Amino acid sequence: MPRRLNPPAATKPAPTDAPEPGALLLAAVASLSAQQRRHGAALVQQVVRSWWQALDTGLDLALPPAALRGQSGLETDVAAVARAYGESLAPLPVAQVADRIGALRAGLMPGEERARHGVYYTPPALAARLVDLAEQGRVDWATARVLDPAAGCGAFLVPVALRMAKALKGTEPALALRSIANRLRGLELDPVAAWISGVMVEAALLPLVRAGGQRLSPCRAGDALSAPVASDYDLVIGNPPYGRLTLAPEIRARFARSLYGHANLYALFMDLAVRWAVPGGLVAFLTPSSFLAGDYFKHLRRTLSDLAPPLTLDFVDERKGVFDNVLQETVLATYRRTGPRKKRPERALVNMIRAAGEGAGLTILGSGYFTLPDEPTAPWILPRHASETGLAARLRTLDSRLADWGYRVATGPLVWNRYKPQIADKAGRGAVPLVWAESVTPDGRFAYRCEKTNHKPWFHPAAKGDEWLLTRRPCVLLQRTTAKEQARRLIAAEMPLSFLARHPRGVTVENHLNMLLPLDDGPPPVPPAVLAAFLNSRAADRAFRCISGSVAVSAYELEAMPLPNPAALKELTALVVAGAARDRLDQAADRLYGIA
Ligand SMILES: C[S@@+](CC[C@H](N)C(=O)[O-])C[C@H]1O[C@@H](n2cnc3c(N)ncnc32)[C@H](O)[C@@H]1O
Repeated sequence: MPRRLNPPAATKPAPTDAPEPGALLLAAVASLSAQQRRHGAALVQQVVRSWWQALDTGLDLALPPAALRGQSGLETDVAAVARAYGESLAPLPVAQVADRIGALRAGLMPGEERARHGVYYTPPALAARLVDLAEQGRVDWATARVLDPAAGCGAFLVPVALRMAKALKGTEPALALRSIANRLRGLELDPVAAWISGVMVEAALLPLVRAGGQRLSPCRAGDALSAPVASDYDLVIGNPPYGRLTLAPEIRARFARSLYGHANLYALFMDLAVRWAVPGGLVAFLTPSSFLAGDYFKHLRRTLSDLAPPLTLDFVDERKGVFDNVLQETVLATYRRTGPRKKRPERALVNMIRAAGEGAGLTILGSGYFTLPDEPTAPWILPRHASETGLAARLRTLDSRLADWGYRVATGPLVWNRYKPQIADKAGRGAVPLVWAESVTPDGRFAYRCEKTNHKPWFHPAAKGDEWLLTRRPCVLLQRTTAKEQARRLIAAEMPLSFLARHPRGVTVENHLNMLLPLDDGPPPVPPAVLAAFLNSRAADRAFRCISGSVAVSAYELEAMPLPNPAALKELTALVVAGAARDRLDQAADRLYGIA
């Protein structure tokens, strides 16, 4: 469903006994059949038309895209509430209107289409913040050429147009308007959204458009991935779509420098933005934070490191209420396109931003600085919070990794639904225990159990070919999926020798767990129990949060996580052997990371 359709009461108080237009529209949308929802664009068009009429612009509404022309098909009562809703938006600032109409457009899209094209529009407060960051990066709105390559309904085009107009205050309207028309560009795959973007920009600049006697159409409908690219823009700004996709070989070849394994739409847009920006220009993008450390993004990190190092990085502290339904951690960042004479920024400023409440703007808290690693593909270790500045800096100085502790990471090999017929409730002959994720308890203990629907405790390996699914050595198990809202991101347990000894044929581990396995046949330099205790410590958890913001606890990130030198683990080892309580283990781990 669309979010926040109602105008704020302060702007337009609703009559006490009549439902608000937004509420009526929500009810009308809910009553639409699936068939009618497919024609949701007609409803959006009606809202835009009524809003435009209510603005009393004296100008014709820009021509809608061919797909919308002649499309009405709305039931009379639905059309009436759409009209009322459009009219009710008239008192709002244009950026908020774009947000509400965008929410309606996105909410009426079939879910699959919305997800495929990453249609999650940016709330005005975050868009304004990114425009501010661009301004701090010395974008001159009076002269800068600006592109949003995935413009949606104008979340960025509108505030940028307003800043351009402000910078040209005092300039003759026709000249100012021509200047903006020449410098502001949007691209958008969805022709309806592209049209809405154009309408929003004209509405935002209404006095200029009226006085300047020229119409604007800054946003072109089209696919940014196949658009011609020239290094033309002083600022490339936006919130590109994200989601994994399979690429045609020619597109893969085109983006090869920034791809490694699975491709994600937003990485392609970041690579393109670097191409579009002039040397010395800026890229200002709101994206998921997975590129900061993920294995699949290591070549993108190299592209950025070589060609557009970061200037500022703002982490959005809370997802709820900012990007409802979005699972990813979000980062607003600016990058300076390097040029032959332009110096690379030495370090980036890191902030945490938090929505101060509905419509109440953002709170910004400094979290320190970030310097790019020497190895250009290495994960970027960043404090997400002011309290982690020292830790992040310290982590960047540590050389040891999991391999130095004697381990590698593999995911639990058993993908249960591929082996359904071999999974059983009863042990029977030849069966081995199937270790599900719930066997690693939230407090970091191993307890062989099987509690969730569809989970069964035994696995019958085939006589031939299933040997690779079995484990016979002690190892550390670690949950593969944890959200940043959880108390702990790292939840580990040693799979003890005593358990393995009871099952000499081996055990199999389900795919929702990571397995930290000894690298060699002999005992690893750090015993599994010590590794598990360290990973379960608050220090390790804090360190991991400086690396990963996505819900996945990936093998790559675990193997890249800076660790204390194994020679420094004597105290922790002694405490583990003595069965010390959690807080003593935590204190020892704090000391190992130098944060005691
Ligand atoms: C995350 S939304 C952001 C839209 C807008 N910039 C905003 O912040 O509100 C991404 C937008 O990219 C558009 N899009 C997806 N694939 C695209 C492509 N290949 N070329 C251009 N736009 C695309 C979607 O339709 C969607 O409007």
